[in-house]
Amino acid sequence: MTNLSVVGLQWGDEGKGKLVDFLAGRFVAVARFNGGSNAGHTVVIGAKRHTFHLVPSGALAGKELLIGAGVALDTEVLSQELSLLPPRARKRLTVDNRCSLVSPADKGLDVAIEEIRGGSSIGTTRRGIGPAYAMRALRLALRASDVVDEGGQDLGPMTDVYRRLGADPSGLRKWVEGARATLKGRLGDVGARVMDIGSSGGSVLFEASQGTLLDLLHGSYPYVTSSHTLVSYIPAGLGIPLSEAGEPLGVAKCYTTRVGGGPFPTEIGGKTAAAIREAGKEYGATTGRPRRIGWLDIVALRYAVMLNGAKKLALSKLDVLSGVKEFKVCTSYRHLGSESGNFQRAAAHLGEVEPVYESPLTLHGAEYASGLPRQAQRLVEYLEDALKVKVTLISHGEERSRTIEL
Ligand code: IMP
Ligand code: MG
Repeated sequence: MTNLSVVGLQWGDEGKGKLVDFLAGRFVAVARFNGGSNAGHTVVIGAKRHTFHLVPSGALAGKELLIGAGVALDTEVLSQELSLLPPRARKRLTVDNRCSLVSPADKGLDVAIEEIRGGSSIGTTRRGIGPAYAMRALRLALRASDVVDEGGQDLGPMTDVYRRLGADPSGLRKWVEGARATLKGRLGDVGARVMDIGSSGGSVLFEASQGTLLDLLHGSYPYVTSSHTLVSYIPAGLGIPLSEAGEPLGVAKCYTTRVGGGPFPTEIGGKTAAAIREAGKEYGATTGRPRRIGWLDIVALRYAVMLNGAKKLALSKLDVLSGVKEFKVCTSYRHLGSESGNFQRAAAHLGEVEPVYESPLTLHGAEYASGLPRQAQRLVEYLEDALKVKVTLISHGEERSRTIEL
């Protein structure tokens, strides 16, 4: 079996964590390649909800866990997350030597920069991810291997730069010691490990964080995250050749959510949004913020499918729309009197476009106990036709068992 990547096609929170947990059994390892503890991946087993920020969502499926070089690693979050895992799962984690670390000063900077932006703040998770990637680009960030090699780190330039930026560098030495304790015995070459698994006939599941529309380059800039969320970043983020990036499985919710600022053409408010938010538990898994709610956006999805080269789609949270009478699907945007289905062309004025809807579908009252209900089948056919993809997975509830393979 080839490697598989699970990638979000919207603004994150598409339900990737649940699907990674569902699919993990078929793979030797699950690997993260982008983002950091800004991610919040929820896996529900029995009555327990587990939220992973850094540890790959295969943790509860007993799989080997890999964190690649592309991740911005907050060792304080990692340490806390590991402490909640069964001891056997803790031992299965390898962090790449080249992962750069998120320092406490990065978190301070994240908050300060958001304040400077004022009314046009991004609405970041305040986890320090943007500043940490900026420090990496400035070649000032410490890497995982730097803190584990005792005495191997020169904090001078980093400290001076933080000070000039107005961030408090006083806790850095202590932070390095904590990072060393968390990372000792866990470092390795994640790219080489992925290749080894392949050579011995196994395969790896790649777990993307955030979503396509939050990609730093191709998303709704500047209202995006600070890393690359597309499958094309897998080889770079792990240190493997393009040929091993595997097959993409795009994940989309049957409606849309967004947390944080930025344009959102199909956003809705009122009672319907509130009902969907409650039924879908649409509160940020990292920040607890209520997520903004909107209808499914085919224009944005088509762009995301193209960017990732996704031929297969997993459709999630169908159960949430069972309680909604009718739902809409946006098929084009109207702007200054003309209509277009081209997301890229609309990107510069995404905040001003008016969504043009089709309302052909309902999932009202749909039950999934004995397979895919007819209404859901119609939605599947509609999306397959509109997006030129094959829908291969349906998720209609949080638990593993609430999944239908087509
Ligand atoms: P940052 O990644 O914390 O810098 O936040 C930048 C934007 O990305 C904000 O709008 C966040 O709410 C959003 N964001 C970051 N991570 C996630 C995620 O995992 N799911 C959904 N939105 C996210
Ligand atoms: Mg999430």
